[in-house]
Amino acid sequence: MKSTPSKFGKTPHQPSLWTRADALKVHADDPTTTQPLVSANFPVLSDEVFIWDTMPLRDIDGNITSVDGWSVIFTLTADRHPNDPQYLDQNGNYDVIRDWSDRHGRAKMYYWFSRTGKDWKLGGRVMAEGVSPTVREWAGTPILLNEQGEVDLYYTAVTPGATIVKVRGRVVTTEHGVSLVGFEKVKPLFEADGKMYQTEAQNAFWGFRDPWPFRDPKDGKLYMLFEGNVAGERGSHKVGKAEVGDVPPGYEDVGNSRFQTACVGIAVARDEDGDDWEMLPPLLTAVGVNDQTERPHFVFQDGKYYLFTISHTFTYADGVTGPDGVYGFVADSLFGPYVPLNGSGLVLGNPSSQPFQTYSHCVMPNGLVTSFIDSVPTDDTGTQIRIGGTEAPTVGIKIKGQQTFVVAEYDYGYIPPMLDVTLK
Ligand code: FRU
Repeated sequence: MKSTPSKFGKTPHQPSLWTRADALKVHADDPTTTQPLVSANFPVLSDEVFIWDTMPLRDIDGNITSVDGWSVIFTLTADRHPNDPQYLDQNGNYDVIRDWSDRHGRAKMYYWFSRTGKDWKLGGRVMAEGVSPTVREWAGTPILLNEQGEVDLYYTAVTPGATIVKVRGRVVTTEHGVSLVGFEKVKPLFEADGKMYQTEAQNAFWGFRDPWPFRDPKDGKLYMLFEGNVAGERGSHKVGKAEVGDVPPGYEDVGNSRFQTACVGIAVARDEDGDDWEMLPPLLTAVGVNDQTERPHFVFQDGKYYLFTISHTFTYADGVTGPDGVYGFVADSLFGPYVPLNGSGLVLGNPSSQPFQTYSHCVMPNGLVTSFIDSVPTDDTGTQIRIGGTEAPTVGIKIKGQQTFVVAEYDYGYIPPMLDVTLK
């Protein structure tokens, strides 16, 4: 990778901290920040494939965009194996839980299209087998570039390693549907550097993925958010006063929380095309709080920067907890300082009675939040579950200053366009 001197010269900012004190304010089941219960009778998009992370086509400013009246979404996708002997249990029944749990290892990028912003039709794989340089095609963002229908798909090429890459192709429409063509040449952009962002050599459980490029509405430059961990050998991080925050007496003990080191990364483009990037220090760190701040993304509203990221119960550090769901932070300028929304950061979490009902929430600029169904209990004890692998009901939230409120629920996988582009 080229090492041109930083445009910024000195480090432009200090990362904002999501502290342990902030996280102590997280409370599951507050109705204003809890996703309505998902019924176990949900419909599935496809019996052939599981889908999870959903990436609506959008423009560089974040607007969800249809083309010639067609909405397009990209999804991480894996085949279902109901008849594969490898996924039969001792009684010869399909072990769907195991099949679903293994999906990350065979994730591929697929696309779907729709006239109504729901009832998605399967388009197929975005890249032919052999185009992507690694086994796993993990999450990212498709950007519609122009009226010729060119699309830059930024995503994560995983195993071996984890590299942020992009591939350019084109969306083509007819009266009957949509196809994606020409996604044939994958360009590696960057990997974790070990100085700002943790590498695999520093921690086998490192995270470096989920690119989300955008144009800063204030300075007009091209940037990219991504998920990372703070650089350093696993176990070497310090959870000091700043990371702990202002806790009540009795809450000073940080246990083994030094192992949780999530951050939201940011890079700036050196060119207009987004082919040459420079990593900058993280925007937000969660050392001592949580190990994963996944799929970070922005909503720009009222002159503010609303930064959203998804996280899990199981990735919280000792002594703090919260539901699986989407968390948010707000700042007046791109580089912060960021303040947790609702005091705690929690924006939309799963109800404690159905802790895994949904995940991978994406907050769109119209306040609609899309996610996928993971698993929903089918009995009162929660021991029997139904695996999803399909779109969850969309939820509407209202963002007001430093607060958010759940205000609506819509149909499964409802992702209406905010703009339509007529292709030339
Ligand atoms: C979120 C996520 C992403 C990753 C993908 C892997 O659900 O963990 O961070 O790209 O799923 O399947």
